[in-house]
Amino acid sequence: MSHSSNPSLAKPGQEPDPDRRDFIFIAAGAMGAVGTAVTLWPFIASLGPAADTLALSTTEVDLGKVEPGQAITVMWRGKPVFIRNRTPEDIQAAQAIDKDAGQFNGLRDPETDETRVKQSAFGDKKMPNWLIMVGVCTHLGCIPMGQKATDMKGDFNGWFCPCHGSNYDTAGRIRKGPAPKNLAIPAYTFLTETQIRIG
Ligand code: FES
Repeated sequence: MSHSSNPSLAKPGQEPDPDRRDFIFIAAGAMGAVGTAVTLWPFIASLGPAADTLALSTTEVDLGKVEPGQAITVMWRGKPVFIRNRTPEDIQAAQAIDKDAGQFNGLRDPETDETRVKQSAFGDKKMPNWLIMVGVCTHLGCIPMGQKATDMKGDFNGWFCPCHGSNYDTAGRIRKGPAPKNLAIPAYTFLTETQIRIG
């Protein structure tokens, strides 16, 4: 597959196009901006951010239909957020690096897989299968490929940025190419075992 023929990719410095075809938006009803914030008392609302800003500040996502090995992309604060339900093989591949060599096997931006997922996602339940990241390349801001089953995923089976060839692993860590940092992890909370709030 060519690295440069995807016309829907954002160029460096551009905001991602929310209509790009390779986003997989979950069905209406599965995701909704949180509306409760906008019901604040009027006299308090007048002191805080505008209601539309509050409504966009968090996003709730239903993960119930995302099977192991699948990924979805949702928009949050104008950016794509990648959510992948990792397979045991994905997790093993990521954790194998952590155990190698003292310096995370030479990772450019050393982080263990453990630190990039919630260890107590809901109650005491560990759910390292859910990897949730801002889908913006840390080099110059392109949107990496790897969300669709047919996408290139790079040398480490994670994500591949076609703009200048950054390869991210199954924990979203930069492993090869010019990007300086791992894909960012947004603030998020598990509301139930299958529902998260981003933001
Ligand atoms: S923007 Fe340059 S490698 Fe991703």
